Amino acid sequence: MTCKIPFLDLRITDNSERQELLTAIDTVFQHGRFIVGPEVAQFENEMAALCNRKFAVGVDSGTSALFLALKAIGAGPGDEVITTSLSWIATANAIALTGAKPVFADINDDLNIDPESVAQLITPRTRVILPVHYTGKICPIEPLLQVAHKHNLDVIEDASQAFGARHCDCPAGSFGRIACFSMNPMKIFAACGEAGVIVTDEPEIYDRLLALRYNGTVNKETCLEPSLNARLDTIQAAVLLRRLRYVEQIVNKRRQIASWYNDLLAGLVRTPVERDNDYDVYYTYTIQADRRDELKQFLESRGVETKIQHPILMPDQPAYRHKTRGVFPNAQKLIKRILSIPAHEKLTRTDVEHVADCFRRFYQ
Ligand SMILES: Cc1ncc(COP(=O)(O)O)c(C=O)c1O
Repeated sequence: MTCKIPFLDLRITDNSERQELLTAIDTVFQHGRFIVGPEVAQFENEMAALCNRKFAVGVDSGTSALFLALKAIGAGPGDEVITTSLSWIATANAIALTGAKPVFADINDDLNIDPESVAQLITPRTRVILPVHYTGKICPIEPLLQVAHKHNLDVIEDASQAFGARHCDCPAGSFGRIACFSMNPMKIFAACGEAGVIVTDEPEIYDRLLALRYNGTVNKETCLEPSLNARLDTIQAAVLLRRLRYVEQIVNKRRQIASWYNDLLAGLVRTPVERDNDYDVYYTYTIQADRRDELKQFLESRGVETKIQHPILMPDQPAYRHKTRGVFPNAQKLIKRILSIPAHEKLTRTDVEHVADCFRRFYQ
């Protein structure tokens, strides 16, 4: 019988976790405040504190978080926003939907945005730098902040993949003027549905975000500017509050799995490298491999599910091709080599050894 190793396993299989979640959800059933109820406020307070921030605003997804953050600082038509070329397409879409133009920078070998490439793309129209902490690793944030400071640009962090990651003991979400998280079910810190959050230190931005997440209204009736309804469901906040208690445990397990892979795959493929002063959370464990497509097929044939995240660079998507600018030769090279392999917290040492064994057989 072939052993099956799924890329992720989102089922809630632990009985005590299931019971705790059902109890948390039942509390919401009883008070009936299904949207921005008391659990949302509590979740926002805890998120602000964990990100070393003054304010947090719960929203309905990471995509909404990015879109509203850009709107809150007034990014729009005529502005350019520089982001990475390798991310989930939501990053570029959030920029484009404000009317601003996404401009795509190259990446370094750690798959994160290259600050030198960013510096070369700045024009008088550039308004924001929007880096992603890709794969759960903080991007080179210090040089980016320096470039932003020099040119008087805002930095908005897309920390969707990096809750819990740190650089020099500062958490993801603590660096930019605003930071955005996704808590969709695939994330390490996940709701049981769509969810996201925005953090900032500025009261004016906070007030504007509160209006923007509810049709641009204040006092529930007066509309100051057109916007979406992007409020966070109370049930998701209740789930997140309960899951918050276990995030550290999950991250520890993912770090353990990463260190097993680092040893077992050394010399076969390029494994992720954690820099000094960094604490990576391994949202994905992404290797770089020769003969990547054959390797992927070989692993699948032995029950190991893998993903290429992402096979098409954002600027090469039909929605963006020919409509934007950017220079990203390293990204174009690396997307032919990247492969994310199972690294979720339910894996055992035996699973990891099986995966590594498949790699050895393939490259023998
Ligand atoms: C880097 C990045 N940005 C934005 C998003 C969008 O988040 P959501 O799916 O919650 O809208 C994701 C989600 O996967 C992501 O990984």
